[in-house]
Amino acid sequence: MCQCTNDAEPKTKEGLELEKVFAQYVGKKGALIPVLQKAQAIYGYLPVEVLKEISRNLQIPVSKIYGVCTFYAQFHLKPRGRNIIRVCLGTACHVRGGAKIAEAISKAVGIKDGETTEDLRYTFESVACLGCCGLAPVMMVNDETHGRLTPDMVAGLLDQYK
Ligand code: FES
Repeated sequence: MCQCTNDAEPKTKEGLELEKVFAQYVGKKGALIPVLQKAQAIYGYLPVEVLKEISRNLQIPVSKIYGVCTFYAQFHLKPRGRNIIRVCLGTACHVRGGAKIAEAISKAVGIKDGETTEDLRYTFESVACLGCCGLAPVMMVNDETHGRLTPDMVAGLLDQYK
């Protein structure tokens, strides 16, 4: 087994992209949020190693970065599914059976609100309004809206997203 002490790992494609982000933002005021957004766009979420890398480059303690990530709902510290299911539990959807739609989603994909399937096929989240209350009850999968749903429509719709 190789006993050499050179621990510099070859950069991944993502690592190289992240370096470009640092080149653009290091030393600039207010860099943290845009760097986190770009890092998340590169990796799909914010792994702890990436938070440490950001900490080193921006000279901001990991604890502070972690605090920012947990404060803003846009940041994700765990891997996300290829398909993001958002069910609306806002007032209009609630009175038209949004909770039953949420139940049907949970049953169809086998996870609860806020979870991701092990095969990373789906992430399931509930939201307060999707901005199309006239179509209540509504769910979105990625950027596609499915309105006027009934619970028995849900499994078939979700199956189309691989
Ligand atoms: S309340 Fe559901 S889309 Fe607005």
